[in-house]
Amino acid sequence: MLSQTMQEALNKQVMLEASSSQAYLAMASWAEIQPGMDNVAEYFYMQSEEERIHMLKLMRFINERGGYALVPALAQPIVTFKSLKNMFESFLQHEVEVSNSINELVDLTLKEKDYATHNFLQWYVSEQIEEEKSARILNDKLELIGEDKSGLYLFDRDILNTRNQSEKA
Ligand code: FEO
Repeated sequence: MLSQTMQEALNKQVMLEASSSQAYLAMASWAEIQPGMDNVAEYFYMQSEEERIHMLKLMRFINERGGYALVPALAQPIVTFKSLKNMFESFLQHEVEVSNSINELVDLTLKEKDYATHNFLQWYVSEQIEEEKSARILNDKLELIGEDKSGLYLFDRDILNTRNQSEKA
């Protein structure tokens, strides 16, 4: 059975995952209207779906453990970006924020001796390592590419492979 504090903290995480899904959906849509960024758009459409799965997994767990998972109200995410690089920086920042939040949740499970939730959250801990890694790799690539058009062409061409590799890892 979840404590009230734990239930509230997990519901906050539901909101963060839902906001991530919305933020990445906005990135997908923005990328889709930029010339030649079709795979980048696809990448963020998939990323948005994944965040929704993270949210659902949490909601099901909260209800299963005797709590009540609340569907959150969401603010509109950032919908325009100065550049592709700027969008990917925002992606990384977002993932770092999610990781910090997961770490705080893990901390709380230890304080409360809630080992079931502790065990459940380990999946998120591993997932965040992968997500942050992918976001950093993509940011490093963009840093190298700068304004080089052929580099950006290759970046878009290869981005879905990066995703598949990190999923296999
Ligand atoms: Fe579910 Fe990318 O955090």
